[in-house]
Amino acid sequence: MQRLDFLTFNADFSSPQILAAYDELPLWSAMFGLLLLEEVPLANVGRALDVGCGTGFPLIELAERLGVTADVHGIDPWTAGLERARQKIAARATPNVTIHEGSAMAMPFDDGHFDLIVSNLGVNNFDDRAGAMRECRRVARDGATIALTTNLQGHMREFYDAFAEAVADDAEALRRLETHIAHRATIPGVRQFLQEHGFEVRRIVEREGVMRFANGDALLNHHFIKLGFLDAWKEVAADNAPEIFKRLLERLTGKVRLTIPMAYIEGMAT
Ligand SMILES: C[S@@+](CC[C@H](N)C(=O)[O-])C[C@H]1O[C@@H](n2cnc3c(N)ncnc32)[C@H](O)[C@@H]1O
Repeated sequence: MQRLDFLTFNADFSSPQILAAYDELPLWSAMFGLLLLEEVPLANVGRALDVGCGTGFPLIELAERLGVTADVHGIDPWTAGLERARQKIAARATPNVTIHEGSAMAMPFDDGHFDLIVSNLGVNNFDDRAGAMRECRRVARDGATIALTTNLQGHMREFYDAFAEAVADDAEALRRLETHIAHRATIPGVRQFLQEHGFEVRRIVEREGVMRFANGDALLNHHFIKLGFLDAWKEVAADNAPEIFKRLLERLTGKVRLTIPMAYIEGMAT
């Protein structure tokens, strides 16, 4: 099939709609999503699903990279996030993507429907990740690909080493910190999780990302750090938060370089 619509595309950088979709992605999501987009198989995909598509990433990008012959769906319960995704789809005029508001635990798709399921920083962090993975296997056809990205244990270890020092004399906070650190994924854990739910792991690609800050003050006041991480850190510190964060800042006076171990994990529905 040949479509020559692109020949009439007008790159209008003054269009509010195009500008709204231009700056579209948290750098955090991008680190993992770029890894996914480099590795995910794009051949022979008729129907694809992005589980936990949020504001439309990697959903819309994937739909465009697969091309219009692929029918691409995204699901997420986040109403406001999906509204933003719809705005981007309209701005980009991406024709082959459909959004569903709902949970991965009960998806509105037939059994064996999809050739490809992706989830960027998604499914293995959901509250009921086993329920979500059962549903992924149900809607995947036999032989379908599942491609997940996740951060791994060792995530931000430089920060957590300083955190452990800051709570060293508070046994309860130290215990909470250890539990918090241990909840991160490991390669053997994700492999077993996929295998338990009917996906044989075929390929794993590991990569290390980096986030740098001038000092701890910049780190703790960074917008996305506050949005994505600070609440969990405050729960670790609990009532002692002012004192613990003061000690943390004393330990993070110079440059802060955070290591972000990441993995792309690809499985096949067996
Ligand atoms: C860390 S965000 C990742 C979003 C997006 N994939 C990205 O890369 O920016 C996790 C996403 O999972 C969604 N989520 C949480 N629980 C879910 C569920 N039960 N079913 C589907 N999505 C869920 C959240 O609303 C959020 O959009």
